[in-house]
Amino acid sequence: MTETTTDTTRERVRVYFTGSCEGLDNLREALSNHPELEVVGASEQISEAASALAGGHLGAVLHATRSPALPVNELAAIREQTAAPVIVLASGAHSTLLEEALDADVSDVLLLPQLTENVVFAIRKAAHAGRRLAAQGGHGRRGRIVTVFSPKGGTGKTSIATNLAAALAKYQGKRALLLDLDLQFGDAAIMLGLEPEKTIYDLVVAPGELDSEKLAGYITRHPCTLDILPAPLRPEDAELVTEAKLARLLEVARESYDVIVVDTSPFFHGPMLATLDRTDELLLLCGLDVPTLKNVRLSLQTLELLSFPPDRIKLVLNRANSKVGMKPKEVEAALEREIAYEIPSDRTVPLAVNRGNPAVLSDSKADFSRAVRAMAKQLVAAQAAAKQRKSFLASLGNKG
Ligand SMILES: Nc1ncnc2c1ncn2[C@@H]1O[C@H](COP(=O)(O)OP(=O)(O)OP(=O)(O)O)[C@@H](O)[C@H]1O
Ligand SMILES: [Mg+2]
Repeated sequence: MTETTTDTTRERVRVYFTGSCEGLDNLREALSNHPELEVVGASEQISEAASALAGGHLGAVLHATRSPALPVNELAAIREQTAAPVIVLASGAHSTLLEEALDADVSDVLLLPQLTENVVFAIRKAAHAGRRLAAQGGHGRRGRIVTVFSPKGGTGKTSIATNLAAALAKYQGKRALLLDLDLQFGDAAIMLGLEPEKTIYDLVVAPGELDSEKLAGYITRHPCTLDILPAPLRPEDAELVTEAKLARLLEVARESYDVIVVDTSPFFHGPMLATLDRTDELLLLCGLDVPTLKNVRLSLQTLELLSFPPDRIKLVLNRANSKVGMKPKEVEAALEREIAYEIPSDRTVPLAVNRGNPAVLSDSKADFSRAVRAMAKQLVAAQAAAKQRKSFLASLGNKG
């Protein structure tokens, strides 16, 4: 069986522990040292694990219980935060628990003690089934979510998000959606020269279940074939765009689009957390100035606390060529990570903003436009590689 062969290129499964039971400490220690797993964290109380469960991109959750019956309330609390497969751990013989688990949304029940390798196999199997289910849920299309974030205002989030989305639509031929999640003061539509009739607010307050067809009724199309779902027109309407609404919206958008570019505000609010939970690439914008650098550093710490996978963070240095007494290398040293993309300062950008026509479309030869187009191309290449890896893993599973 392919599942048991040793393969050093295998992706490590991210797991999180909740609850408690006899023998859990020993198991956790053994799994923490296992090369095929990445133990993201543990929390006895599920309420304290909310952000890690929601934002942890987990392969499986291991929930330990001392209850002789299936802990349905605890499992429901986990389900509220994550769609990851759940494995229940208990100690001793619990016949009711095993019986009830058959009908529940539980991948497996393991009675401790167990051989570490048996537990690892159960985790890998659950994670694999979870991935396959997620892949099947999207009618074949599963758009990638690219989130553009910076903890400082004015760093260029909207300029980069709009131009990147336009480049993905026009030059990469992608079905692209630009989602304006700067819910109070979003200006993505203005930068694209659009005056939308409907916004994300109209979509979330409309009655009935959200599906692809309904979503299509609320988007505005730019002539370059980019679709946009703009921010509410009035700041006070922002609060109606809740975390739950946004989570559903992103799931639906993934079925209709190849890529969803999300412009954001400089805050980790509820809808932003729902977005991070589904983000494939987080473009973290930085500038050549000390206050921004300080806040980007703090954001990296927050992302770590949220258990956001570090390999999904791509540092983008905007206005990279500015002569302001700081060099890109110094940014890398201060943030202890490499810059993935450098975008030059270019007067084409403010000119294009005021004209309401993104620079990549109005002046495709400008330095800024070339840099954003190159970024769009690289993102597409990275996405294609990820897709290939996923279908390779699925083919291994089908054989196993
Ligand atoms: N690479 C660049 N070269 C020149 N000007 C730029 C560049 N990037 C952004 N700008 C200018 O900086 C201003 C702020 O950019 P933008 O609105 O994109 O930032 P933001 O991070 O979205 O701000 P906010 O936090 O207010 O939403 C804009 O007027 C834009 O023209
Ligand atoms: Mg903005």
